[in-house]
Amino acid sequence: MIESRQQVETKPAPAPRVAISKENYSFLQRHLYAASGIVIDASKDYLIDSRLMPIVRVERLQSLDELCQHIRGNTTSLLSRRVVEAMTTNETLFFRDVVAFDALKKHVLPRLLAGRQAGRKLTIWSAAASTGQEAYSVAMMLLELGVDPSEVQILGTDLSEQVLERARKGRYLQLEVNRGLPAAYLLKYFRQAGMEWEIQERVRRMVTFEPLDLRQRIRNHGPFDLVLCRNVLIYFDVETKRAILNNIQHVLRRTGVLVLGCAETMINLHNGFTSESMGGATFYAAK
Ligand SMILES: C[S@@+](CC[C@H](N)C(=O)[O-])C[C@H]1O[C@@H](n2cnc3c(N)ncnc32)[C@H](O)[C@@H]1O
Repeated sequence: MIESRQQVETKPAPAPRVAISKENYSFLQRHLYAASGIVIDASKDYLIDSRLMPIVRVERLQSLDELCQHIRGNTTSLLSRRVVEAMTTNETLFFRDVVAFDALKKHVLPRLLAGRQAGRKLTIWSAAASTGQEAYSVAMMLLELGVDPSEVQILGTDLSEQVLERARKGRYLQLEVNRGLPAAYLLKYFRQAGMEWEIQERVRRMVTFEPLDLRQRIRNHGPFDLVLCRNVLIYFDVETKRAILNNIQHVLRRTGVLVLGCAETMINLHNGFTSESMGGATFYAAK
């Protein structure tokens, strides 16, 4: 169960099941929460071991405790940043959740395109873009709908600079294009580049990627016709989820649509949105 901020700060940490002192374990929890909003509770403490031991080894440190000593010395250092990035879960794939993407293509995007004033670009925000598959999936869908790329602006943002660097390159391993991407799209929108597949320039140019912590208000962008905030709220406590939804509500057009991940819901969380079911998927509009 996800803990609230208060619990993270005041509840004594249970003994960690990884080789790290109790003090450093709760320091890491607080550091991660302060830097990203992500909550690591006892059910996920194995992640501390699997994600941070590679850093311990690369840095030729003795232990997780020694790593913590370095971070405690400077919580804004590059090493501290790497620790936070390593603790983010960047799992993503093309057209993740077929039902939602089908509904976007059949119902949501045609409606948003038709409702737009002549000459205005369609603005789309992939709010936790990871390595870019979500943003590029939407771009390819718009091309399939016959939309001129110059009529669209897609923004992908993420906390992690590492994933954004990969997203900007638009190069994917065979394993990654095998996940969710229809073969016809692979042939139509990618070219083989050595061992990788590179997304074509015409698709890449539709999307820009920028760093953003979702707990901050987005500046210099918006309002948006479509916001995808998918499979990221699950990592936060209720307070952080609400703050992020407030930020989204602020930049969602009156006619705009928000889509969450299929395991995420607005129930008991935020009353500033109405929900609508289209093609079996749930979409939200700001009240
Ligand atoms: C599991 S991925 C989701 C990717 C994509 N939206 C999808 O559904 O496939 C979650 C992403 O959220 C990012 N993230 C975590 N905390 C964040 C924060 N506070 N602000 C912005 N992005 C964050 C992580 O770096 C990671 O790339």
